[in-house]
Amino acid sequence: MQISPSILSADFANLQHELDRIANADWAHIDVMDAHFVPNLTIGLPVVERLAQVSPIPLDCHLMIDDPDRWAPQYAEAGGSSVTFHVEAAKDPRAIARDLRAAGARAGMAIKPNTPFEPYEDLLDDLDMVLVMTVEPGFGGQTFMADQMPKVTQVREAVRRRGGEVWVQVDGGVSAKTIEQCAEAGADVFVAGSAVYGAQDAAAAIDELRRLVTA
Ligand code: DX5
Ligand code: ZN
Repeated sequence: MQISPSILSADFANLQHELDRIANADWAHIDVMDAHFVPNLTIGLPVVERLAQVSPIPLDCHLMIDDPDRWAPQYAEAGGSSVTFHVEAAKDPRAIARDLRAAGARAGMAIKPNTPFEPYEDLLDDLDMVLVMTVEPGFGGQTFMADQMPKVTQVREAVRRRGGEVWVQVDGGVSAKTIEQCAEAGADVFVAGSAVYGAQDAAAAIDELRRLVTA
């Protein structure tokens, strides 16, 4: 069970300090948005490159961008230890996954709430993680979509059947109220933005989330 706080809800004027606040987490989740794939614009390659140099924990880059075929490997080269692309934007998802691994990163594939998983099940061989979105991507602080839990279970069962070591991540509206149902459905990596950075003590919020899913 791993916790990956999203810096989307952090203070963008103090990112190094904000990463230090979550040093007890497993990953730092970096939301890259391009104002095309999603209606929001955040950070890009040069910022990720510097964050990778100063972060006390590895970067889990979530690319909400067009043309991941071109860009995703560059986020691995910039220092993303895990890089997740959206399958809806990908021309050749298997090639992206292979390029990511070749660049030394864990390869993640994300699916939006209205995207079914079945057509992509065969890609599991080339993936290290599947991200099941539990909000429409683009913004922090949205309401958790419990109706995505069957998809989490479907991915978990496909992974089990195939006997691989693929992690199942959830992202969007994950909090102390919703994290347990995600774990019960089969998730093992939990992204939380506002639930961590909205807390006075981010490290304590991370410990509490982890306790809820490991108890
Ligand atoms: C949404 C992003 C999430 C976001 C989650 O598009 O992918 O990572 O930061 O924020 P919360 O946890 O506040 O829903
Ligand atoms: Zn995200």
